[in-house]
Amino acid sequence: MGPPIIGVSENIRRVRELIEHVAHTGLNTVILGESGVGKEVVAQNLYQLSPRLGKPFIKINCAALPEGLLESELFGYERGAFTGAEQKRKGKFQLAHGGVLLLDEIGDMSLALQAKLLHVLQSGEFAPLGSEKDFKTDTWVIAATNHDLKQDIGEGKFREDLYYRLNIITIFIAPLRERLEDIPPLIDYYLNEYAPQLKGEHLVRPARELIEQLKSYHWPGNVRELQNVLKRMLVLGDPEKIVYELLSGSLTNSRATSAQGTIHTESGGHLFPSVMEFDKENLIGNSSFSLKSIKKKAVDKVEREVILYILEKTDWNRSKASKILKVSYKTLLNKITELAITPPSGRNLND
Ligand SMILES: Nc1ncnc2c1ncn2[C@@H]1O[C@H](COP(=O)(O)OP(=O)(O)OP(=O)(O)O)[C@@H](O)[C@H]1O
Ligand SMILES: [Mg+2]
Repeated sequence: MGPPIIGVSENIRRVRELIEHVAHTGLNTVILGESGVGKEVVAQNLYQLSPRLGKPFIKINCAALPEGLLESELFGYERGAFTGAEQKRKGKFQLAHGGVLLLDEIGDMSLALQAKLLHVLQSGEFAPLGSEKDFKTDTWVIAATNHDLKQDIGEGKFREDLYYRLNIITIFIAPLRERLEDIPPLIDYYLNEYAPQLKGEHLVRPARELIEQLKSYHWPGNVRELQNVLKRMLVLGDPEKIVYELLSGSLTNSRATSAQGTIHTESGGHLFPSVMEFDKENLIGNSSFSLKSIKKKAVDKVEREVILYILEKTDWNRSKASKILKVSYKTLLNKITELAITPPSGRNLND
């Protein structure tokens, strides 16, 4: 079913450890993480190691369905329960009986349905729409979301009581950019997975240096995006070009998403300041104006943005950043002082 959970980072080790501890308990679990980090794989691994293996594994995406439909999908309905209900239909809670129910994107569930879900979790019983009878359900409910549920609770979008009911165990999967050491083993694993389908054509393994370069990308789509990049490499060949495009795209994109939110390049999407900008600042024609002074200003501006960007991506780690920028640690420190680079509030520079 699901692949093994590949990775050597502290976070992934911890995730694997938690899975081993939790799988046999059947305790309600919430899996947290950005899109594409592997929430579904974690749920599949929990199921595979649990005594429920062999029983159903049912998944439902709470974000994909409008409220009414989601409700009837979850609990089922009797014939005639509403217009159009010509046949009775089993809900996911019934289908998953004895097995696992993965509630994907639980953060998108409406408050009204959250209340109904809470009732099922508390009583272990549910009633299909239009039914007089309650059914017992023995399902292991695993929920996944890319929302910050604590924040959603604060904003009144998620029920606190449901949160505590669901969230006996939390498994947090870090974004790929915060566990760059997982990239090489993931590449190895997926190249081997994909290779047979390509019948030996274009089987170009990216060189080690290229894999190192992939570590400086911010991977907004996480492992899923890495898979897509690998597929592109295998199908199109020319991995250098693909990596170059990936990295240059991420540098010149005006918005690069990071774990902390959004970084804007200061010149509104263009790294290179335009003549007009200098004119606006009333520099042209001043006594201090010269081609040389403009060059210095332009270089400073670009350097500042690039350094900020790389620091942001390395979690403000100066040694990692200096390696990516290919300058000495000391040079980077000098630049940081000279260009008055400071981390945003709540973040700190580290070594
Ligand atoms: N650690 C990992 N080892 C192996 N494969 C992984 C790992 N993490 C993710 N993947 C693979 O990456 C793809 C995306 O993972 P998955 O669908 O589980 O992510 P998700 O967190 O559920 O994403 P979304 O929020 O978009 O639903 C899948 O093909 C999955 O097999
Ligand atoms: Mg998913």
